[in-house]
Amino acid sequence: MSASKKTPRVNAVKGTRDILPPDSVVWQAMEQKAMRVFSRFGYREIRTPVMEPTELFVRSIGESTDIVNKEMYEFKDKKGRSLCLRPEGTASVARAYVEHNLRLQPHPLRLYYLGPMFRYERPQKGRYRQFYQIGAEILGTESPSADLEMLVMVHRFLKELGFRELSILLNSVGCDQCRPEYRAELTEKLRAKKDQLCQDCIQRLDQNPLRVFDCKVPSCRETVTSLPLIGDHLCEGCREHHDRVVEGLQRAGISAGRDDGLVRGLDYYTRTVFEVVSADLGAQNAILGGGRYDRLIQDLGGPETPAIGFAIGEDRLMEILPDSFREASLREPVCYVLPLAPEYLPEAETLALQIREQDVVAVLEVDGRPVRAAMKYADRMTFDRVVFLGEDEVAGGTVTVKEMRTGEQSAMERDVFLNSLT
Ligand code: HAM
Repeated sequence: MSASKKTPRVNAVKGTRDILPPDSVVWQAMEQKAMRVFSRFGYREIRTPVMEPTELFVRSIGESTDIVNKEMYEFKDKKGRSLCLRPEGTASVARAYVEHNLRLQPHPLRLYYLGPMFRYERPQKGRYRQFYQIGAEILGTESPSADLEMLVMVHRFLKELGFRELSILLNSVGCDQCRPEYRAELTEKLRAKKDQLCQDCIQRLDQNPLRVFDCKVPSCRETVTSLPLIGDHLCEGCREHHDRVVEGLQRAGISAGRDDGLVRGLDYYTRTVFEVVSADLGAQNAILGGGRYDRLIQDLGGPETPAIGFAIGEDRLMEILPDSFREASLREPVCYVLPLAPEYLPEAETLALQIREQDVVAVLEVDGRPVRAAMKYADRMTFDRVVFLGEDEVAGGTVTVKEMRTGEQSAMERDVFLNSLT
């Protein structure tokens, strides 16, 4: 099956990649864990399209953000409509909420989603142009208890993956009542320091000065250390809301650090914002991020619908996944069904099916490998058991089973073997 040397290959697009087995098995286990944990909190899946009208992201994520300014995979379809590969999931959930009149459903509405997202960023460790998120949103409630539920759910999920030391960073970015005043003060202070800001931040000054807190340019990072903080300008409602969330976390025994400069890279946030970061990830250290977005649905033409959510970056999570979870997810026992001569293959096909009927994995030797080669293969594939079918076995309705870990080998009635699998 060797390809001609002259035939050029086609490789994956820069910043995208294939997830191959056995890694894909670990990804699947992680996604199943998320779905299981989120279901336990009453969340159900929503699937939205991978492409959306460009306008959706401009209006929701915001024109001053890097995502909208620099990172969108924007293209025109054959009718000249401007579309985007989604850079995140929240805007799509909000659009679906408005489009399908989901306000008519019992509230609050708890939804989760998973799938690929696309951002045209410079690829590096933990940063891809096609990456994967698992996200959850609770819509139609402004209760701080909903914020708490989100954080507890995130914590529970990370704990069930075996993480111990990840902690949550928390902040409040205020609301329509308190933010304008803060914003005015911030803009004034920033104007006075304009010469210390990068070009992007100078532009951000008029659109959304809070973005400066999110800038990675060293001189801007330095500048923000002397700026007033939103936390000191919260209105009473926002302060109370924030305090309730902090108290709830304490009650639940979840440690969360306050990060006064946490504003997040999307414009739709109000009140609670949070991230979970890991030092093991280097510069791209946010594993997940989220927050409240009480105005987004209104801004997209829907009814007043306060909401909060988060999204986990699966690619980053995989980089730091505890070995215990990885190993456990690869530990599914496998029976390798090995016919000892070609004439026993039909019987072996039947046996493999019978094993699978017991909900056990059976891999059939379809290529007639000789025993020595077959055992080597079984070893490389780390199969747990080899089930031999030869003349004696077929004639006597038995199987010979070799346990690969111990080397123990025994013959038994076929029925007894099949029953032993359940
Ligand atoms: P975000 O902070 O933009 O929030 O993304 C969430 C997570 O996605 C990040 O913490 C990171 O782990 C991962 N991520 C982002 N960009 C990349 C990339 N280029 N490569 C790999 N991983 C990446 C949101 O997307 C919001 N929709 C979260 C949310 C939901 N807020 C409310 N509800």
